[in-house]
Amino acid sequence: MSSGGDDLTDDLFNKIRKYVYQHARISLGENKRELVRARFGKVIRQRKMKGFREYFNWMQNDKSGEALSEVMNAISTNLTSFFRENQHFQYLANTFLPMLAASPEARRGGKIRLRGWSAGCSTGEEVYSIAITLLENIQDHAGWDIKLLATDLDTEVVAHGQRGLFARERLKGVPPAIVKRYFDTAVDDKGKPAYQAKAVLRGLATFRYLNLFTDWPFRNKFNFIFCRNVMIYFDRETQEQLINRFYNLLGPGGHLFIGHSESLSGVTHRFEYAQPTIYVKR
Ligand SMILES: C[S@@+](CC[C@H](N)C(=O)[O-])C[C@H]1O[C@@H](n2cnc3c(N)ncnc32)[C@H](O)[C@@H]1O
Repeated sequence: MSSGGDDLTDDLFNKIRKYVYQHARISLGENKRELVRARFGKVIRQRKMKGFREYFNWMQNDKSGEALSEVMNAISTNLTSFFRENQHFQYLANTFLPMLAASPEARRGGKIRLRGWSAGCSTGEEVYSIAITLLENIQDHAGWDIKLLATDLDTEVVAHGQRGLFARERLKGVPPAIVKRYFDTAVDDKGKPAYQAKAVLRGLATFRYLNLFTDWPFRNKFNFIFCRNVMIYFDRETQEQLINRFYNLLGPGGHLFIGHSESLSGVTHRFEYAQPTIYVKR
């Protein structure tokens, strides 16, 4: 029987770190050895391989994209929740929306155009929280043209988000009236009680696989980008590149929201500071 991970030598560990950095710019520190052992140990056992040596050889030679996707799914940390860092949603409601509604540039063909991106969306709680905030705070829905994009490099979380099916406890902290308005009761694949996002929410959000360190297929500018709790995995140089790409992709007045444990200090950028973890392009 395969042990799944007993042969994680220094050399193999460093090769895996290099592969992950080259493909996703995720910096795995020396202290991530046990994480690598545990996460890959599981896939090695599932693949009935002998250990890390065999897995690494397969991973390196695979040209189909399967290995890349499997490695990224195994290595990514997908922790998220509804209305996480709630002040961002309050800011959207109380500051961002009134500002956009008052902006003549936002009006296209009689409607107010809003484009938002959840970059590193995980299982979708973030983008659905954004969608609920917009729907709750916009009176005249017909007067708005809203599209939200949610992307991640982990294909499993993207599929999860797109389906919009959440275990009941995921919505525990959300007011019951909101749950009722935006979710149907459902059961998951194991027959456990769950909630499914209603069409009104799912219709606003498009989920796509996207590695942030590849070319971006966008033609139009965004009004805001949420990239929260993603940059913590990147080194300064990578963060700087990403922040500057975000800047170029936002229109004037566009906002960038980052996670509360993240900061742009030490990063050279052109954003104006609005509030802690909120930045504006002027
Ligand atoms: C901790 S979750 C954060 C989810 C959500 N933004 C939040 O704050 O609740 C980080 C997500 O970033 C994704 N991620 C990490 N590196 C990425 C990359 N290079 N390109 C795209 N997504 C990435 C991971 O797959 C993971 O789902």
